[in-house]
Amino acid sequence: MAGGKRESDGFGVTGRVSIVGAGPGDAELMTLKALRLVQSADAIVHDALISDEIKACFPAHSRVFDVGKRAGDAASTPQAEIDALLVRLARQGLHVVRLKGGDPLVFGRGGEEALHLAERRIPFEIVPGVSAMSAAGAGAGIPLTLRGLSNACTALNGFGPYLERIDWDALVRLGGTWVFYMAKGSAETIVARLLAHGADPALTLAMVESASLPGQRVHARRLGEVAGNPLPPFGAGPAVAIVGPSVALLEELNPMARGIHADVRAVSDLSQAAR
Ligand SMILES: C[S@@+](CC[C@H](N)C(=O)[O-])C[C@H]1O[C@@H](n2cnc3c(N)ncnc32)[C@H](O)[C@@H]1O
Repeated sequence: MAGGKRESDGFGVTGRVSIVGAGPGDAELMTLKALRLVQSADAIVHDALISDEIKACFPAHSRVFDVGKRAGDAASTPQAEIDALLVRLARQGLHVVRLKGGDPLVFGRGGEEALHLAERRIPFEIVPGVSAMSAAGAGAGIPLTLRGLSNACTALNGFGPYLERIDWDALVRLGGTWVFYMAKGSAETIVARLLAHGADPALTLAMVESASLPGQRVHARRLGEVAGNPLPPFGAGPAVAIVGPSVALLEELNPMARGIHADVRAVSDLSQAAR
């Protein structure tokens, strides 16, 4: 057994679960610890965001379970089944790596799964990963915080029904950078809500798709321009929407992004303000 048999934890369980963040897709953005755990795991239970490049790191001896959940996909594995699978494999004495895209505790259900294991006295650890917002900021050339320009960064669930739960007045008052995960189908709604609650129409929204992956794409618009100049259709990759005063700096920080902004005049004003 590659993961190595462990002593019983006193409750008769000899296996354990490592809940591991695999990062945003580029295998080089996995941590050394994530790679080491994956390569010694007896079983790997992974979600839909695990790239082929990362799957290629799976050792031949591991049992692999793809339990990927895709929004609206009726065929995806119910969470209760995933929880039960982790418990069952650990009770068989296996070292299980529960491999998740990005960071397991950022919109990754890592917290729920850890609670489930804790309640059943299954030994577990949580290993952080590079979250999509970090990869999107780095890949697109967007500082998520920038002294004097953006002093906060808020991660939000941008999936349709969750938008109703956001206190938009409070968000706009807080300012800083707003990162909406799972926002592919709701960019226009997000923009409309922000504007209706007093956000500056000159703020830039960037949609960053497939951050860190070969298909990475960035589209940017000022909030006030989205209604008249809709964002182009997206590809099949995951995407985050980033809005805030430092987003327009992508014009300067990402050579690939030059010219993607509809109006670059205020961009240099913003970068002057940042210095
Ligand atoms: C279920 S959440 C998982 C988030 C993950 N735990 C993290 O920390 O990045 C899935 C969402 O993460 C975002 N996402 C994940 N990987 C991404 C990538 N490579 N590029 C852009 N967005 C990504 C998208 O918003 C996607 O809909």
